[in-house]
Amino acid sequence: MKDKFYIVNLFIILVLLLTSDTVVAKKRWQDSFIKPKEVAAEKSAVKAIARARLALEEADILHQAYITLIAENFTTGPGVLNAVDITEKVFEIVEKKGKYKARILSTAEKPLLSKYAPRDDFEVYAIKIILSGKSYYERVFFDYDGKDFLRASTPVSVTTKKCLVCHPTKKVGDIMGIISYTFPLEEYYK
Ligand code: HEC
Repeated sequence: MKDKFYIVNLFIILVLLLTSDTVVAKKRWQDSFIKPKEVAAEKSAVKAIARARLALEEADILHQAYITLIAENFTTGPGVLNAVDITEKVFEIVEKKGKYKARILSTAEKPLLSKYAPRDDFEVYAIKIILSGKSYYERVFFDYDGKDFLRASTPVSVTTKKCLVCHPTKKVGDIMGIISYTFPLEEYYK
């Protein structure tokens, strides 16, 4: 008789415990742990970002190199394109190939042409950071319209006196603009 009483009591306590807030809270707390699947996803994202960053750095070396080369080899004549015009044409070709997007922006407060103005918060902030003296600024955007992106910026500076032929108010070393890159991470997840 006594035993039965104990068993019933134990059962009631067990039911109370299982339905109590502490149990629920504990379960919720356990749920908030990262699951193995999520750890794997996080690891592959870290790798994808590292790969994209490497590709971006290599691309930037090339763009920066020919901007200076074109300015250094500047001659007057009909149909001569300046460094920025050619860079924009190269960016168009790269974008058509579906690799990445890039634009040149002016760091001037009021760019003469609207195409050199920042178009979103990232670009506004990137200009501030680059003008503060940093040579690189990046941010990763996850699930932005369903896709992941590495966005980064590097300065476009007056690297040669030849820039001054057309930009006489500047001096060597001045930052005149930034390149704003958008690298889709998709192909770097492989
Ligand atoms: C042949 C003349 C010429 C040379 C040399 C030249 N530029 Fe330019 N650049 C231009 C013209 C023209 C524009 C577009 C004008 C505008 O923005 O109103 C321009 C625009 C720019 C812009 C974007 C817009 C802005 O006003 O900030 C940047 C940045 C720039 N140049 C940087 C450079 C740098 C850096 C060099 C040297 C490596 C250089 N340019 C050499 C002619 C030249």
